Amino acid sequence: MSKYPLLLDTKPVSYMIGDGALGMSGKSLQKYPRIIMLVDENVEKHCLPVFKEYLPNVEIDHVISIKSGEKSKNLEQSIHIWNELTRLQVDRDALFINLGGGVVTDIGGFAASTYKRGIPFINFPTTLLGMADAAIGGKTGIDYGAYKNQVGLFVDPVSVIIDPIFLNTLNDLQWQSGFAEVMKYGLIMDRDLWSMLIGKDYHHLDDWNKIIAKAARDKIDIVHHDALEKGMRKNLNFGHTIGHAIESYYLMHDMPITHGQAIAAGMICETWISSKKFNIECTQIDEVVDMIDLNFEKFGISEDTIPELLDLMRQDKKVREGQLKFSLIRKIGKATHDIEVEMDMVIDSIKYYINRNAAH
Ligand code: GLY
Repeated sequence: MSKYPLLLDTKPVSYMIGDGALGMSGKSLQKYPRIIMLVDENVEKHCLPVFKEYLPNVEIDHVISIKSGEKSKNLEQSIHIWNELTRLQVDRDALFINLGGGVVTDIGGFAASTYKRGIPFINFPTTLLGMADAAIGGKTGIDYGAYKNQVGLFVDPVSVIIDPIFLNTLNDLQWQSGFAEVMKYGLIMDRDLWSMLIGKDYHHLDDWNKIIAKAARDKIDIVHHDALEKGMRKNLNFGHTIGHAIESYYLMHDMPITHGQAIAAGMICETWISSKKFNIECTQIDEVVDMIDLNFEKFGISEDTIPELLDLMRQDKKVREGQLKFSLIRKIGKATHDIEVEMDMVIDSIKYYINRNAAH
C-alpha cells in the first residue's frame, strides 16, 4: 500500500500530504452544508477542473474569483469577498475553500476569518510555494499601503490538503520560485532533504511526493512549536531580509521577479554573512552557492543599487530599533535567528553576490 497521502493530525490542524490527498479529502468536506471557494483566474482555468474531476460529488455553492498576482492581495479584494459572502447569505456553518497559491490562501484566510468573526476554511495549495510554505502555518493577511502583509492575523485553517497533482499546472518560473523555499528547509533544518536535492537542477528531480512531504513536515514542525513567530519560526526568514529588499527593488522598478528568485539571491548573500559570523567551512559555502547558481540565474544588479536595497531593508519588519536582525545558518541544516549584523557586512555580502562568477 502506498504511504501517500500522509495523514497528520497535529491539532488544531489536520494535514493530508501527497498523491491521492485531493480525492481522499472529499469525506471531510461532506459535513459542511455549504461550500464557497476562492480562486484566481489561472486557478479557475487550470486547477478547478482538476478539483472537480477528483471530487465530482463535492458541491461548490459559489466560486469567487480574483485576479491573479500579489496586486490582488489588498483591501478592495477583501471587500469584494466580504460582499459576496454577504450577498450569498453565508453563515458560520459554511466552509470556505482556498484553492490556489500564496495570494489566494493569504487573502482567503483573512477574508474568511474576519467575516462574521470567522468561518472555517481549508487550504488546497496549488503551487509548490504554497505546498511547502504559504498554506501552512496560519499566516493570513493582505498588503496595505506600501507594505506587504501589513494587515492580517494568525488563524489556522481546519486542514491543509497538499496534492502534487496540481504541480502539473505550474509554469517553469512557478516551479523555480517554490524550489527556493524547498532548498531553504534543507539549509535551515533538514540535512537529509538537502542531500536529496544537492547537485540537481529542479527539472531533474522526480520524487516530488517525498520532497514536498519533507518540506511541508519541516514547516509544520516549526509552526507547531512557534505559531506566533516568537522564536524558531524566525528561522524561516533565512534569505528573506536581503531577498525581500531585492524583490521590492525590482517591483518598484517595474521589473517584477518571482519571490523565489529574490530569496535565492538573498540566500547567497546571507550564506556569505553566515560564513563570516560562524566560520562555516568553505566547502559548505561553495555547496550552497553552487546549488543556487545551478537553479537560478544571477541578477545583473550593480553596486549603485546597494543604497536603495539598504533603505528597503530598514523598512523590513525584521528591523527592531534600527538594528538589522538576521536569521542565518550555523552550518547546512542548522539555522539560528535574531543575529545582529553590521551594515558594512550587509553591504559586503551584496558586493560578494554582485562580483562573484556565477555558473550561469
Ligand atoms: N513564510 C514564513 C512563515 O510562514 O513564517
